[in-house]
Amino acid sequence: MPLKLAIVGCGNIAGPYSQDIKKHPELELIGFYDLDARRSQAFAAEHGGKVYASLEALLADPEVEVVVNLTIFDAHYRVVKAGLEAGKHVYSEKPLALKYREAQELVDLAKAKNLRLACAPITFLGEAQQTAMKLVRDGKLGAVRAVYAEVNHGRIESWHPNPAPFYAVGPMLDVGVYPLALLTALFGPAKRLTAFATTLYPHRVTKEGQPFTIEAPDFYVVNLEFQQGPLVRLTANFYVSGQTLQGEGIEFHGDLGSLRLHNWFAANSLLEYADFNQPYAPIPPLRPSEVGIDWARGLVDYAQAIQTGRPPRVTGEHAAHVVEILEATNQSARTHQPVELTSSFTPPALMDWVDIKA
Ligand SMILES: NC(=O)c1ccc[n+]([C@@H]2O[C@H](COP(=O)([O-])OP(=O)(O)OC[C@H]3O[C@@H](n4cnc5c(N)ncnc54)[C@H](O)[C@@H]3O)[C@@H](O)[C@H]2O)c1
Repeated sequence: MPLKLAIVGCGNIAGPYSQDIKKHPELELIGFYDLDARRSQAFAAEHGGKVYASLEALLADPEVEVVVNLTIFDAHYRVVKAGLEAGKHVYSEKPLALKYREAQELVDLAKAKNLRLACAPITFLGEAQQTAMKLVRDGKLGAVRAVYAEVNHGRIESWHPNPAPFYAVGPMLDVGVYPLALLTALFGPAKRLTAFATTLYPHRVTKEGQPFTIEAPDFYVVNLEFQQGPLVRLTANFYVSGQTLQGEGIEFHGDLGSLRLHNWFAANSLLEYADFNQPYAPIPPLRPSEVGIDWARGLVDYAQAIQTGRPPRVTGEHAAHVVEILEATNQSARTHQPVELTSSFTPPALMDWVDIKA
């Protein structure tokens, strides 16, 4: 039987989610709710399913097994909490919450109610990303001591109709989470960080020509240390385009060689390896990859985990650790002091097709 899902928040990303959910027989999308009723009506008209008049109505529907929370950042905590309190499993877009205390409260609530809580990003489940993780875990690079992670994410107002919430939270919280999710999935919990943040480009203009000013930082450099793993230097900004030479990838540098994942987001990213001091050459993925990203891939893994009782690869505990890193980043940037991290989680297994191939 497919797992029955209802989406809360029918904005920009709900379209790709709805399309991708329909490709998987393990999943069934049965309804929609948005604060703006016209949006939920439009989604139900396009994809089929019910229109809920309120979050309470959606949560009161016994058919709904999983709440898929695609609302905007500052609503995540409230919606996830309401879903869990109503006895539903919850899968949320990132970040799980804006504060670590809140993220941990949600993890504890799910555990107390024996419900499954999961949170994006799921991009580390992509073919190129899993291949990179497998090579690092298998020691192809020797001990990995330095990692450069780049998030040159350009200017949100150049493509998103409502950029304000993205600037209110900044590039680490919006997109820094992608390499952070991959690096913590690979190396486990981080232990300490130091960060610098500033606002490079405060005065901006929306697509409609409306000027707006940002107050939160739009540029971060973070040094992240792991309990067991390398030193990571992560740059995240909403100013430099991804077309830059540094792009939006991750470079792993080990005693024996280096691995360059050109893009932490796209499953079909180019992956290259070089022995120390030698030129890079492409490495094929462990299985052919789809183009870009399947937004439902985490939900499929989650559905299988719920139905078989095996540990899921995308978990609330992992997401809460990422929220602790995000919070510590802002604290360190403010105080100019290192911040020790305290939370922990069990890193996910690689995908079955990776281990079968090994
Ligand atoms: N846009 C992207 O490319 C993208 C990619 C990956 C992840 N995300 C994540 O997805 C989330 C949504 O992003 P988006 O771009 O779709 O934003 P959006 O502003 O386009 O859509 C958010 C929708 O949520 C609705 N909403 C807000 N609060 C709500 C509430 N309490 N109850 C019900 N509906 C509510 C809004 O009315 C809106 O329709 C964000 O957390 C973002 O981090 C977005």
